[in-house]
Amino acid sequence: MFEHIERVPGDAILGLIEAYKKDTNPQKVDLGVGVYKDAQGNTPVMRAVKEAEALLLKNETTKTYIGSHGSATYGEVILPLVLGEGSPVLQTKRASATQSPGGTGALRLAGDFIAQQMPGKAIWVSDPTWPNHLGIFPAAGLTLRKYPYVDAENRLDFDGMLAALEQIPEGDVVLLHACCHNPTGFDLSREQWQQVMEVVRERQLLPLIDFAYQGFGEGLDEDAYGVRLMAENLDEVIITSSCSKNFGIYCERTGCLIMVAKNNEQMENVRSQIAIVARENYSNPPAHGGAIVSEILHSAELAAIWREELTEMRDRINTLRRDFVEALKPYGLAQQYACVAEQRGMFSYTGLTPEQVDRLRDEYGIYMVRSGRANVAGFSHENLAYLTKAIAAVN
Ligand SMILES: Cc1ncc(COP(=O)(O)O)c(C=O)c1O
Repeated sequence: MFEHIERVPGDAILGLIEAYKKDTNPQKVDLGVGVYKDAQGNTPVMRAVKEAEALLLKNETTKTYIGSHGSATYGEVILPLVLGEGSPVLQTKRASATQSPGGTGALRLAGDFIAQQMPGKAIWVSDPTWPNHLGIFPAAGLTLRKYPYVDAENRLDFDGMLAALEQIPEGDVVLLHACCHNPTGFDLSREQWQQVMEVVRERQLLPLIDFAYQGFGEGLDEDAYGVRLMAENLDEVIITSSCSKNFGIYCERTGCLIMVAKNNEQMENVRSQIAIVARENYSNPPAHGGAIVSEILHSAELAAIWREELTEMRDRINTLRRDFVEALKPYGLAQQYACVAEQRGMFSYTGLTPEQVDRLRDEYGIYMVRSGRANVAGFSHENLAYLTKAIAAVN
């Protein structure tokens, strides 16, 4: 019965990781992976997480099911984290939180909900976007369309984006990255968010905001600017939040689907449907990651430690961005790569061509995906000189 099944090629990034592991060049650099790395190249467990886990081990009394919406205490801490303490959206009880298996799980819940409840609506994603968006929504049965995001000079194509949004049919869904756009690192300014919000309102589009990197760009509240603007000014907004990066709990699969509706009544209606979508997918979300996050955010002491650790990660990335451009100055390339210092988050569309990426890999043992997207957390003050010298050599 399986005779006809064809093997598909593995994930390009996984292939890259394998090739990197096999490379014997002692100066090799991995800029391909999608996780944060510290100066030693590790992705350690955060101290606040370790302490929360110790408390959980001691105090946990049951491992019974946590229900389709997940833990209520997790929802209680995620909503103000994402929407802001004292948000009018929370005061009017327009927002519902459903714990999900990572941000990916929340995206799939959103996709299934849209496919079931708003049949015929397409979802518009930026070109380029996180490759998994291209898989999740069609798998849920949605038609996928794209709006431009980057121009030929490797700059944010905001005019192109806005013009495309103005043409989207009423009622369609538009996916926006809240901050730290993956893969490009190009984020919208506050003025640009305002313009997007107005177009979304005017055209009666449904925004789905993917919030996978809260705290990795400018700060926890700063990164939520677009999310909060939309939620406070529009009747309906879908937000998918992830704790994978900002809590460093990638493998615990911890995310949240936040549905914002016009009023409490409509929110409860929507919420009841989301429970069914979750149940039909996986019944209940995994509990441990949500319990870690609740433990941290319910404790002033642990929350302070966590904020400090998150700030350290963010500052490291932003410093490396600036130092990278600085290190290219002697080669006369600072201007060409200035965008790297302006972008935010873990990823950067460097502007390196596929041919240059191939040469960096073959001649220098520097690994990144062929689109020229680099994981900036793979830069370090030890490898910057080598990296920039290699980039100068392939230019
Ligand atoms: C843009 C974007 N959205 C969502 C996710 C989902 O993250 P997770 O499912 O690991 O929480 C990621 C992870 O890389 C991402 O980059």
